[in-house]
Amino acid sequence: MRASVTTDTGDLDVVEIREVPKPEVGPTDVLVEVGASAVNYVDIWLRQGMEGDVPRVTGVDVAGEVVEAGADADRDVGDRVVLYWNTTHCGRCEHCLHGDITMCPDYGGLGISRDGGHAEYVAVDSRFAVPIPDDIPFTEAAAFPTGFGTAWRALVTRADVDQGEDVLVTGASGSVGHAAVQVATEAGARVIACTSADWKADRLRELGADHVIDYTDVALEEAVDELTDGRGVDVVLESIGGDTYRRGVQSLVRGGRLVTFGATTGDAEAAMLPHVFWKQLEVIGSTGATLGEFHDVVDRYRDGAFQPVVDSVISLEELPDAQRKLADRGVFGKIVVEP
Ligand SMILES: NC(=O)c1ccc[n+]([C@@H]2O[C@H](COP(=O)([O-])OP(=O)(O)OC[C@H]3O[C@@H](n4cnc5c(N)ncnc54)[C@H](OP(=O)(O)O)[C@@H]3O)[C@@H](O)[C@H]2O)c1
Ligand SMILES: [Zn+2]
Repeated sequence: MRASVTTDTGDLDVVEIREVPKPEVGPTDVLVEVGASAVNYVDIWLRQGMEGDVPRVTGVDVAGEVVEAGADADRDVGDRVVLYWNTTHCGRCEHCLHGDITMCPDYGGLGISRDGGHAEYVAVDSRFAVPIPDDIPFTEAAAFPTGFGTAWRALVTRADVDQGEDVLVTGASGSVGHAAVQVATEAGARVIACTSADWKADRLRELGADHVIDYTDVALEEAVDELTDGRGVDVVLESIGGDTYRRGVQSLVRGGRLVTFGATTGDAEAAMLPHVFWKQLEVIGSTGATLGEFHDVVDRYRDGAFQPVVDSVISLEELPDAQRKLADRGVFGKIVVEP
């Protein structure tokens, strides 16, 4: 089958189209014909040697149709599914035993620690294939899993966002960010979204953001101060790191919570300890989502609560350009790939 393989660490020329063996299907597995997959920042981290192993078929987010099912699989041929991506975990550590596989030391998944969806087919254990209705196109469903799953765990499980709270989202135009705006809005929070461009700001308002700050233009903490009458926000959802993280900490009300799930700038050294102890803040890490959380957020998606945004639909050959566009902040929502 055809696949996009990151053959080594290095520049974009290590991303190549190759012919690779079609995955084997075990007794509890399903073979999914990929309808669409999506581009993620982790594709860049993998190529740069920061996460996962190469050579690797990338592609964390996948939607498609079951075309083969093992004898003991829970799904049938013809089922339309979206895939839960954190498929790798030990099943034996204290965290796995308590059902939180996102805490497992062996935690990994599609497109990172095993081959992913930038290909014609993917095989997964059938419990990771979650049904979607006929009226959701694969190109839209592929924009859903990591963005909404990560936003859901970070805001609902980890931050426990409540009705009437003020939530600040950095990187709000991104995969997780644009989902977080919707998840926080649905939870009844007032959402302040941060972005870098006017065209993104308009789209964030359409998704439900109550206020938008261009944090490349103004001091974030001062803009928050003005919007909250000097109080600060209850929750910051942060993924940029460095200066944005620091300004996020400064933007919190006393007793506020900051949830961090990424450091896109690569600057992860910003502790801000005096603010943390003096204002008695909670700094909370979040990664991925459990299978249970993924089912919860897919249920809400099937009910029509959320709208994943497709920035553009590309071919496998265009993946290197897509990585460049992502690193250049030229994307709103998700770039989706049709094999
Ligand atoms: N822990 C986890 O489980 C988990 C899950 C998903 C993602 N992540 C990580 O979290 C971060 C965000 O993920 P994502 O999938 O939402 O990424 P994304 O789709 O690329 O969105 C990131 C957003 O950050 C903003 N940004 C600010 N500074 C940037 C810079 N120097 N370069 C590129 N973008 C910048 C951009 O929006 P503006 O231009 O509007 O500011 C962009 O839309 C990434 O670092 C990713 O690896 C972690
Ligand atoms: Zn484990």
